[in-house]
Amino acid sequence: MPGPKNANIFGTKLGFYLAAIGSAFGLGNLWRFPYVVAENGGGAFVLLYLFLVFLIGMPFLIAELTLGKISRNSLSPALSKLVGERYQVREIRERREELPGWLKWAVCHLGTLAQGITLVVLAYYAVISGWVLHFLMQLLVSLFDPGRFDPNNTLQVLLQNGWLQVLLTSVHLVTVAVIVAKDLELGLEKWVGYCMPLFVVLLLVLAAQSLRLETANEALRFLFYPNFSKLSLASLGEALGHVFFTLSVGFGCMVTFGSYLREKAYLPVVGFRVSMLDSAISIWAGVMIFPLVMYGGSIFSGPELLFQTVPRLVKELPNGTWFGVGFFLCLYLASLGASIGLFETVVANWREVRRVPRSRGALWAAIFCFVIAVVPALSSSVLSSVRVGSRGLLGFCDAALINWLLPISALLITQVVAWLLRKELIVAEFVDPDRPGSEKLFRHWIFILKYVAGPITVLALVLQVISLF
Ligand code: PHE
Repeated sequence: MPGPKNANIFGTKLGFYLAAIGSAFGLGNLWRFPYVVAENGGGAFVLLYLFLVFLIGMPFLIAELTLGKISRNSLSPALSKLVGERYQVREIRERREELPGWLKWAVCHLGTLAQGITLVVLAYYAVISGWVLHFLMQLLVSLFDPGRFDPNNTLQVLLQNGWLQVLLTSVHLVTVAVIVAKDLELGLEKWVGYCMPLFVVLLLVLAAQSLRLETANEALRFLFYPNFSKLSLASLGEALGHVFFTLSVGFGCMVTFGSYLREKAYLPVVGFRVSMLDSAISIWAGVMIFPLVMYGGSIFSGPELLFQTVPRLVKELPNGTWFGVGFFLCLYLASLGASIGLFETVVANWREVRRVPRSRGALWAAIFCFVIAVVPALSSSVLSSVRVGSRGLLGFCDAALINWLLPISALLITQVVAWLLRKELIVAEFVDPDRPGSEKLFRHWIFILKYVAGPITVLALVLQVISLF
């Protein structure tokens, strides 16, 4: 007879994959990837990105899942367990002797850093999701009233109207909070299960459409032909930051998802599948998006790229409005899945540390996030005079968090796993007598974590510092 259901374990294996891929696959792949690739010269950057996904992103992803599955906790409580601080338990620490006080403090506060990043990313993610909602609604209305949608002006009007952005952001946040406030199986797992299949179908249809544009050849060449002279010193850091962002590593999200995995799940395979699928969909999204953005003209316009170029096509393509609706629906589904992942990460940490019910955690997370989101939402209107270098507030938030703080957080979390987590526990997850070569796999993985991926991440950060001067 099946035992009672555990509200903190994914109901099905498919449910886990949909949730993990739904959260990995988001605006990062559809909105951020094209403009970061455009800024870094195309094909060579794509190659670098793919190389880093498998050399660094995947081992880091597996490390986060491992920490979650072994501790059965989200990042902050898992780290406290590891150093024996808050709960006075050290059942997952490698060596029993006391750690120096500063190290305990640092490990415990690593969870706070990751949560801070998650909250701020969620906040500006919600602002961009609000933009997507706005375009989607405008296009839906124009299905019935064709004169309504003005492709040249919609973005401008939205950017100048900060309070409209605040409103749209709050609609998105409330939607996400309502989904996450329900139990895992009925909320996150069910909704991402609806969104992802629809999203994949839309992506296939849209790619077929955009490959028929006259810019398709030029776009494919830009995307796949590597011109290494276009890479700069900062490109390694930007590519790495984007790898972590898109695989949801460094936020603690995969620690939370790891803690919901069933006992039987084999982590290296899980990590490989999630990384593979995320990269495949990312490239596929590039194939869909680059013909579109090149058709629209300039591809070097930063975060506004998609919102400037795609709407113009709506007027030019036959059945363009339907195309636009499909496109923004696809974008919204992607952003919803990812926002759910980000939100779940925050709520799970609060739930476990403060022992509050899921619904109250969701309410507080939504309020907190809303307050933070007001700043990026007003960044193009009321706060437009605040600029950091050449970037506005939203662009600055994105670059500072993803290119700098995220690699630091990902690096620290994974090094804690590699150096402090008890080895027998990791071995029990990795080494399976029924899988030949699993012991070798374990040794390679831990070696890469400690001596390859870690140092390359440090190098990427150093190169970025140098490129500042
Ligand atoms: N990976 C998502 C994207 O590419 C962003 C994300 C990060 C989602 C962390 C969940 C957790 O858009």
